[in-house]
Amino acid sequence: MIWYGGDYNPEQWPEEVWDEDVRLMQQGGITLVSLGIFSWAKLEPREGEYEFGWLDRIIEKLHAGGIRVDLATATASPPPWLSHRYPQVLPVTVDGVRLQVGSRQQYCPSSPVFRRLAARLVRRLAERYSHHPALELWHVGNEYGCHVSHCYCSVSAGAFRRWLRAKYTTVDELNASWGTAFWSQQYQSFDEVFPPSASPTFRNPGQLLDFDRFSSDELLECYRNEVRILRAATPDIPITTNFMGFFDRAADYWKWAKEVDVVSDDAYPDPSDPDSASSAAMTRDLMRSLRGGQPWLLMEQAPSAVNWRPINAAKRPGQMRALSYQAVARGADGILFFQWRQSVVGSEKFHSGMVPHAGTNSRVWREVEQLGAELSALGDLASTRVDAGVAIVLDWDSWWSLKQGALPAHLSYLEAIHSWYRELWARTVTVDFVPSTGDLSGYSLVIVPSLFAASGDALANLATYAESGGNLIVTYQSGITDDRAHITAGGYLGGLQATLGVWIEEFAPFAGPAGEPAPSGVLLGLPSGPADATVWAEYIHAPDAEVIATFGTGALNGWPAITRRAGRDGAAWYVGTQLSGSGLDDLLDRVLAEAGVVGVLATPVDGVEAVRRDGRLFLINHSDAPVVVAGVALEARGVHIGERSVAGGGAA
Ligand code: GAL
Repeated sequence: MIWYGGDYNPEQWPEEVWDEDVRLMQQGGITLVSLGIFSWAKLEPREGEYEFGWLDRIIEKLHAGGIRVDLATATASPPPWLSHRYPQVLPVTVDGVRLQVGSRQQYCPSSPVFRRLAARLVRRLAERYSHHPALELWHVGNEYGCHVSHCYCSVSAGAFRRWLRAKYTTVDELNASWGTAFWSQQYQSFDEVFPPSASPTFRNPGQLLDFDRFSSDELLECYRNEVRILRAATPDIPITTNFMGFFDRAADYWKWAKEVDVVSDDAYPDPSDPDSASSAAMTRDLMRSLRGGQPWLLMEQAPSAVNWRPINAAKRPGQMRALSYQAVARGADGILFFQWRQSVVGSEKFHSGMVPHAGTNSRVWREVEQLGAELSALGDLASTRVDAGVAIVLDWDSWWSLKQGALPAHLSYLEAIHSWYRELWARTVTVDFVPSTGDLSGYSLVIVPSLFAASGDALANLATYAESGGNLIVTYQSGITDDRAHITAGGYLGGLQATLGVWIEEFAPFAGPAGEPAPSGVLLGLPSGPADATVWAEYIHAPDAEVIATFGTGALNGWPAITRRAGRDGAAWYVGTQLSGSGLDDLLDRVLAEAGVVGVLATPVDGVEAVRRDGRLFLINHSDAPVVVAGVALEARGVHIGERSVAGGGAA
């Protein structure tokens, strides 16, 4: 079955409303609700005093109504008594500001007090509900790191030192790794080391990178702290925590995903962003990839508008449905929302709910009800998989490194990735994401955008892939540092130089006078004629590769921009600029043909997404106009699901 439901916060409502909630849930086809995510203050109103009566009652009502429960551990927002009594739990920002109560997530991830009190609550919840027949799934915390991903308090400083000691053993090792000979930063003991708080100018890159890794590990330790208790109590109940898509702060989801039983994701594409369909698709594909293709849950999406952008566009009629089908087509086994009933109090009262302020005589409710009915008919799709022939490498070390200051240029790692994804999506080519040291052998084409901080193992993995017949595209600002943030000197790219047949002499990003948009350049040599080169340029030597395109302007005139080194079966490409338009088209035309990768549709149509799950064709028209595609008429934002084809995949 495909789960359907949302976050349910009954504590915001008088109990009289609960019966109506359950009745409407049944009417709407709801099968699963996430319960108690922000209920700590209500469950433990005073330290050590628990009030489970209300939770017992609502779980019973849900159970009687046939609705399963994704029970939260309720630790996402500590109650005011906690920080009143233990003020050291409150987190400190990079600027030294201690964050206060009155919002949510105000805890230091390293706080032993927080972990102890959270564990105690979880133990009580596990004792009470582990045998409840309504329990389907555990929901640990909520969006770890969403608001407080890094904490700079003295408790965190102590934890950071312990983490560093475990990693480096001696302070000399730490000094060597962080390159502290620079700017007189040598440490004599671990006690002298602090988190990288606000500083006079650029902070040590190795310290920043380690602090990101440490912060991801500390949040993960908070998650594990609760999971240990749940596993012991209910070895057979799956556990999740909700991820946040391409989350660039402290959570390396490759590492996290190993510790959840099912990946779940919160996704809030901006309904007014013309790019939102491809960026949402990209997020779905990442979620599917995090556990090697295992089906995942869309844990939260908005029924219509959110309340946290400066202006909050409503979803257009059919848009929520189209995005929901997109998730299902890309491997989701559940579609859930934030939240069930739209709040009338608190800072999310303008965030849409499945039951809006207007009640059930509303477009939002009608769409919720319709989708519930439709998804219940798609049950046989659950647990099935999606095949992809192309992989894009995603790497959190590189992302974190590219967010530091003092770099050759400010580059958007996400946009570098999206630029490839968007074009493949438009061509209806299905993409997986992989970690830089992951198994690449099943892919006909692997794209590596700006793998800035690459370990020797990662470079060797990519080289092995290309040398065993794969088609590899590596783009600018890859292999620039190793995993200690040390430059890979001698032309960058390390072990990949031989694979690609190139080395880089000097960077020359496109730069204009301050405050003005950077100019762009021209690429020459591609089949469709001159193409745009933007963002990045560099002086590339190609001693052992064919030059496919050259820069056509300025001092770089005539220097290689795109190269190709033929391999045994495939080829290793290097792309030294940001491609778009005809440049990207020309390159992908050739590489996809050489790699034998075909899209789901032989003739894609603008704005129409096509993907196959378990051999079944999904066509989703994200545009505001009706279209006919592959002989199928689709309304604006319409969806079509084809019959299962035995062969699966292939061009329609
Ligand atoms: C998520 C969060 C929910 C709710 C939602 C609003 O980040 O998990 O609790 O705040 O955003 O869009």
